[in-house]
Amino acid sequence: MEINGKKAVVFGGTSGIGREAVRMLRDGGAEVVAASRNPDRAEPMDGVTLKACDVRDAAAVEGLMKDCAPFDILVNAATGGDRAIGPFLDMDMAGFRGSFDKMWGYANVVRFGAAHMKGNGAIVLVSGAPARRIKPGQVAIGAVGGAVEAFTRAVATEIGPLRINAVCPGQIDTPMIALEGAERDDFYARTTSGHLIPRAGTSAEVAEAVLFTIRNDFVTGTTVDVDGGWLAAP
Ligand SMILES: NC(=O)c1ccc[n+]([C@@H]2O[C@H](COP(=O)([O-])OP(=O)(O)OC[C@H]3O[C@@H](n4cnc5c(N)ncnc54)[C@H](OP(=O)(O)O)[C@@H]3O)[C@@H](O)[C@H]2O)c1
Repeated sequence: MEINGKKAVVFGGTSGIGREAVRMLRDGGAEVVAASRNPDRAEPMDGVTLKACDVRDAAAVEGLMKDCAPFDILVNAATGGDRAIGPFLDMDMAGFRGSFDKMWGYANVVRFGAAHMKGNGAIVLVSGAPARRIKPGQVAIGAVGGAVEAFTRAVATEIGPLRINAVCPGQIDTPMIALEGAERDDFYARTTSGHLIPRAGTSAEVAEAVLFTIRNDFVTGTTVDVDGGWLAAP
């Protein structure tokens, strides 16, 4: 799909990976709506319309999709809620269930967005490397990521000629991690030391893959890994 002149809606478009996808879509000539729970707290972006919407609120998602219709590109990079990290046998079950807010948000956005998309439109979701190579302490995010990828493959079989793909980031340096300074540097060094490319990726490196799955009309029902060799590491 040629991006110039198209309309895009990006959930989670005010920070990190989603924000970078918004910037690239805008720079490519698309009209872009970026949605998140608190867009007023985000730095404004020239030429981008910001909307408040919680992806977990099905009615709010449905309303926003109707307001934006018709559109060509739908991206959901929203984290959804808090992530539960740590050993599963010690895990607070409310936290485990809460991790699936990401999945429910993705489901809402596809369920209520696809109907308002033009025939050759493209949807992109964001999973995460623990979907297929889990490290200890990542049971919750691995299960959610796996669900996102299975959901993507399944929905692709029903929505043609619309396309849907997932992009699967490894460890990426975004505001999702609140650490600062040396603590932040140590965290990324420690969590990527076993990867083939031992550093955190950038939001732009992941957003490039988001744009790839939008532009390439022969890609659907699959997952593109941008993980610095997390999956391939020995
Ligand atoms: N960073 C990584 O290392 C990494 C690795 C693997 C996968 N991922 C996945 O990549 C995606 C993007 O992550 P990121 O690192 O770019 O995160 P981020 O910088 O924290 O950005 C998250 C975005 O989602 C929005 N958001 C969160 N909950 C929302 C909700 N319930 N409704 C609407 N918007 C919501 C946030 O804005 P508001 O706070 O205003 O709502 C923000 O715009 C996520 O799905 C994450 O799980 C990230």
